[in-house]
Amino acid sequence: MFSLFKKNNVSITSLFSNDFIDIHSHLLPNIDDGAKSFEDSVSLIKTLHSFGVNNFVTTPHIMDGVWNNNPEIIQNKLFQLKDYLKTHNLADIKIRAAAEYMLDSNFEHLLDTEKLLTIKDNYLLIEMSYLNPPINLKDLLFKIQIKGYTPILAHPERYVFYHNNYNEYLKLKEAGCLFQLNLLSLSNYYGPDIKKVAIKLLKDGLINFVGTDTHSERHLKFLESINNKKLLKLISPIIENNSILK
Ligand SMILES: [Fe+2]
Repeated sequence: MFSLFKKNNVSITSLFSNDFIDIHSHLLPNIDDGAKSFEDSVSLIKTLHSFGVNNFVTTPHIMDGVWNNNPEIIQNKLFQLKDYLKTHNLADIKIRAAAEYMLDSNFEHLLDTEKLLTIKDNYLLIEMSYLNPPINLKDLLFKIQIKGYTPILAHPERYVFYHNNYNEYLKLKEAGCLFQLNLLSLSNYYGPDIKKVAIKLLKDGLINFVGTDTHSERHLKFLESINNKKLLKLISPIIENNSILK
């Protein structure tokens, strides 16, 4: 009886294949609100490894005045973490680094003056304030693309100001923005409203990629809790689609 129960209780982690790459996480220690030490990084990566995730583009925040990261700081941390992984028998973990760029008042300056860190080729992970979108959002999306990048908006389902203005999601897609859903949004972690919009975006075919957005072990507990079969069926092709960013 027990084994029958276990057989039916499928976790989202069973969907991660060798081809999967997690394109959104905060695994570099002490440079944002993610991992707090190298030990913490290793512990998060070990747990994700036990879920079948072995390939990462980790994405520290770049947020003016809050997380003042730059490509040099990020690449140095990555270099150190890779060394740490080797000494912890995790040399088979593939990890590279990009960033999650906040569309704040300094972003346009970075866009004009720096080579931005991308997930792969020209794919750029962006986020915005949870309170309101930038006034010049459409212009920024246009400019990002003129500069040769393809914007991927992190966790569109978490911007609650769009929940009652769903048409704005369609406008963003029309403006050339791709969407990355947080897998955690399918758990109860962010609450029922975000879960509902996440499912609607998936059903409407608006989601291009997924990410774990892992900051802590608590996130991973919720990730493991996603076991609704209909949801898993819905998310499975998007999980597969991530492999184009390997
Ligand atoms: Fe993030």
